[in-house]
Amino acid sequence: MAKLDLDEMLAQIASEIAKITYRGRVADYIPPLADVSLDKFGMAVCTADGTCARTGDAEEGFSIQSVSKIFALTLALQHDAAEIWQRVGREPSGTPFNSIVQLESEHGIPRNPFINAGAIVIADILTARYGAKGVQAKLLALVRDLSGRDVTGEAPVSINEATARAEKSSGHRNVALAQYMRVFGNIRHDVEETLDAYFHQCALTMSCTQLARAGRYLMMEGVNPVSRHVIATAAHNRLILALMMMCGHYDASGNFAIKVGLPGKSGVGGGILAIAPRIASVAVWSPGLCAAGNSLLGTYALERLVQMTGWTVF
Ligand code: DON
Repeated sequence: MAKLDLDEMLAQIASEIAKITYRGRVADYIPPLADVSLDKFGMAVCTADGTCARTGDAEEGFSIQSVSKIFALTLALQHDAAEIWQRVGREPSGTPFNSIVQLESEHGIPRNPFINAGAIVIADILTARYGAKGVQAKLLALVRDLSGRDVTGEAPVSINEATARAEKSSGHRNVALAQYMRVFGNIRHDVEETLDAYFHQCALTMSCTQLARAGRYLMMEGVNPVSRHVIATAAHNRLILALMMMCGHYDASGNFAIKVGLPGKSGVGGGILAIAPRIASVAVWSPGLCAAGNSLLGTYALERLVQMTGWTVF
């Protein structure tokens, strides 16, 4: 196959995006996210040959929000794989990311680790192993190690305390989910402690370049291609990618699979991480969301990239 000119493709995508006037709506239920400009757009593509192409605001940090659910699940799978599947399902939910309805008839067991309820259970499992503050430190260390630092002057990956605090005071739905699951015995810590870990993981701030680099283990069958450390076993890695395909975009996962055809995970900060297995790790950021809470133009950009490269898994 001829070598793809990714720089040219990304420039083409960025110029198409710049002309689009309807850019979706920023998430306003977490106050700091409401202040982000809809004009922002960044994209970074790290390929298996070790190079990264980027465009637009690819070096600017943004709140990765639910994209962090991938890293939290990866961490939990390292030591608590058996427990996870007793407490969280592995099926698509077909409901919005913050829905509570299935929990009543399904005994407080969330459908999967990527909806909020499932991610809160993962945070509870991680809290048992590392303690509330320990979870933050462990996740930050994992993501920093995965994303490395090879752009001069780049700010290290951090957790934005103001965003975590804002979500703590406005995240009533997550409090309701956690309290409800506690009734079924599926949250085992103080709700405040578990949610503290969850809100801090959501407040991880990363650029597209850092996120694409952090996702490289997912394209390399679970191995960090720089350190050669096994981050996820090959079987766990396949499981994470399968869940990303089925559940990474909540009740819009089918649409994403059809349009983009890659395992992907979105966040309400407007970021998406998508993986072309053995080929590329791609991060995109555009803060405007569609009705399902996924980046509108981020999805469009990935759709265009896959049209240009043929990288769909189907
Ligand atoms: O818990 C929440 O509602 C947010 N911290 C994360 C939600 C999210 O990113 C959903 N993604 N599209």
